[in-house]
Amino acid sequence: MSNISAAVTADRLPAEGRRVAARAADLRKTYGRGDTVVAALDGVSIEFAAGRFTAVMGASGSGKSTLMHCMAALDKPTSGEVYLGDVELSTLGDKELTRIRRDKVGFVFQAFNLVPTLTAQENIELPLSLAGRKPDPDWFDTVVDVTGLRDRLSHRPSELSGGQQQRVACARALLSQPDVVFADEPTGNLDSTSGAEVLSFLRDTVDSHGQTVVMVTHDPVAAAYTDRVVFLADGLVVDELHQPSAELVLEQLKRLTAAAGGSAAATGTMATGSEAGA
Ligand SMILES: Nc1ncnc2c1ncn2[C@@H]1O[C@H](COP(=O)(O)OP(=O)(O)O)[C@@H](O)[C@H]1O
Ligand SMILES: [Mg+2]
Repeated sequence: MSNISAAVTADRLPAEGRRVAARAADLRKTYGRGDTVVAALDGVSIEFAAGRFTAVMGASGSGKSTLMHCMAALDKPTSGEVYLGDVELSTLGDKELTRIRRDKVGFVFQAFNLVPTLTAQENIELPLSLAGRKPDPDWFDTVVDVTGLRDRLSHRPSELSGGQQQRVACARALLSQPDVVFADEPTGNLDSTSGAEVLSFLRDTVDSHGQTVVMVTHDPVAAAYTDRVVFLADGLVVDELHQPSAELVLEQLKRLTAAAGGSAAATGTMATGSEAGA
């Protein structure tokens, strides 16, 4: 094996010698039946290293959200395995799944999903309050500081900017100190300035607190905040990049779109590079 290929092989080791925070093995998810069956995931095997920030990219309909939902125990795959740490989700009953969703994973949605009648602080604490638990005061302070929400805690969502609302949603996801935070297009509803706020904050939780973050995005600029980009097409992992730059990601998206025959579906959502929080 040449030095170059050895280096490439080492670089492509998904876990990079780190603990694996979450992984999927031959994950399949089909919708419908007979002629109308859709394979949203068609055999995805992937590892997400602990303490790393990973982006998941791919054309609309390539299975990104389905993958996030299955990995976060919000949805059940048709077959295959999901491990959070050493725990395989299909072995768990409903009670244990509820506990995993509450304690082991955080989820950030594109549309923030805050409760409009609650203050920022109440929203951040809601999952723990529902579980009858008090947040660790030190960690609460850290999360509030890292999200820059100290002077906004008594505000309701309608009194906050989009970026602030998404930071509240991120703080909510982080408060239980989950093993993994999954974020599905967290900057998709934000302007580029607010998007950059949220991305810097996610980057900081990884760098300063060893958080593991997996984020779906369409935006090469957002992907450039991460350590690794995984590309999906038609329910399969088709490529990945390490230490991505926006230019490299854009190039890769163009290449994958061309390989897919430049279909309208693919070109509509990939390789535009203009969706920075649009
Ligand atoms: N609840 C559902 N019922 C039927 N088909 C679905 C459902 N959810 C997703 N799909 C289909 O699965 C495929 C992958 O969807 P999704 O994971 O949402 O893709 P992405 O997030 O990459 O846009 C698409 O073809 C989509 O239409
Ligand atoms: Mg989606």
